[in-house]
Amino acid sequence: MQPIDQASPEQLRQQLSLLNQQFQQLQQQHLDLDLTRGKPSPAQLDLSQDLDGILKGNYRDSSGTDLRNYGGLDGIAEAKALFSTLAGVQDTEILIGGNSSLTLMYFCAQTALDRGLGENHKPWRQGQLPVKFLAPVPGYDRHFSLCQHLGIELIPVAMNDAGPDMDQVETLLRADSSIKGIWCVPRFSNPSGIVYSDDVVQRVAKLGKIAGENFLVFWDNAYAVHSLDKGAPQLANIMNYCRAEGTEDSVLLFGSTSKITLAGAGVAFVAGSPSNLTELKRHLAFMSIGPDKINQLRHVKFLRDASTIEAHMQKHAAIMKPRFDAVLQALNTSLGNHGLGEWTEPRGGYFVSFDSRPGLAREIVKLAAQLGVKLTPAGATFPGGNDPRDCNIRLAPSYPSVEEINKAMEVFVTCVKLASVRQQLNAG
Ligand SMILES: Cc1ncc(COP(=O)(O)O)c(C=O)c1O
Repeated sequence: MQPIDQASPEQLRQQLSLLNQQFQQLQQQHLDLDLTRGKPSPAQLDLSQDLDGILKGNYRDSSGTDLRNYGGLDGIAEAKALFSTLAGVQDTEILIGGNSSLTLMYFCAQTALDRGLGENHKPWRQGQLPVKFLAPVPGYDRHFSLCQHLGIELIPVAMNDAGPDMDQVETLLRADSSIKGIWCVPRFSNPSGIVYSDDVVQRVAKLGKIAGENFLVFWDNAYAVHSLDKGAPQLANIMNYCRAEGTEDSVLLFGSTSKITLAGAGVAFVAGSPSNLTELKRHLAFMSIGPDKINQLRHVKFLRDASTIEAHMQKHAAIMKPRFDAVLQALNTSLGNHGLGEWTEPRGGYFVSFDSRPGLAREIVKLAAQLGVKLTPAGATFPGGNDPRDCNIRLAPSYPSVEEINKAMEVFVTCVKLASVRQQLNAG
């Protein structure tokens, strides 16, 4: 296929008839494939089966406390030591929770909204005044729905290869003190897979000085150790920059082992300044008498230290890499240099972000569904499901097998071509 913009109407009609045939052939295959959610595959979950039974009936932590009982609201000391290394903070700057970092994000946002965080923090919600968050786009749909559920308005900001467009972020914050937070997935962003540059991390660390009162960066480092290859870019330590700037109170860091061990039975944490953590703990005490400390100890015994985690993540990468390669190979082979879209080539994380020609994402997702391939709904990566250019589609290759991905991608590229050729013909 030649570049679509250079094809004559006659050539486009020929391509259309060929694509219609391919579409019909694929339809007859009655496929049932799913490239939607970023779930670990069963083979990845199997990597952590030694968690089961690892305690061998010894439920005491290093201080001798019986972890089967209530208590220990902010987590056990061993888990703080392990996960603070992962988060790049002191072990006095972390709270270890249950299985979900999203739950902790919700809890932090709700607490900041209704109660306020830290010694001098007033609640974000003051009467009828709006509360807003910056949402780098494309981004993670659950961040956006969390805000919408809490009545927080989202202002989209552009992402580029190095992270959010920081000029735009700073300009917006200077102009509007009702912006109280920003979502950041700094390493292997969902869905673009980009890693924030050192300069961006440093500028994010300074935002607390630029923004209105009580501003919080929600630093969701969900894919902190999820590289596909050894040379993947590293992420600068935001807390170190915050210390230099005196802005420790304006950043909350989140992470979990959902995609290290078991997505439904991992361990999550929130890290931040001691004053923020004291306040969070105070509020948490009304909700819980303590987290699942047994699971925390199981994770400490299983993951042990940074080098054990790295070796474990290499096993994940060995499973994930061929899946990413299958997606990228299909895109590069079938769509490369045809003007039919652009896509990221992530060095880690769970997603590939695809941008079609403007105005086609919904159509492509609809066509793929007609062929039995479920894709993440178009627009899901934007607040309110509203992608103004209707072009972004998140591809999530972790769960299906390589064979299934190959088939799903055959469908995907056919649908991209079909929608693009139809659009070009209609435009002409
Ligand atoms: C960026 C991001 N944050 C958080 C989560 C969910 O994390 P958890 O399982 O710890 O709630 C996901 C899951 O896909 C994610 O992509």
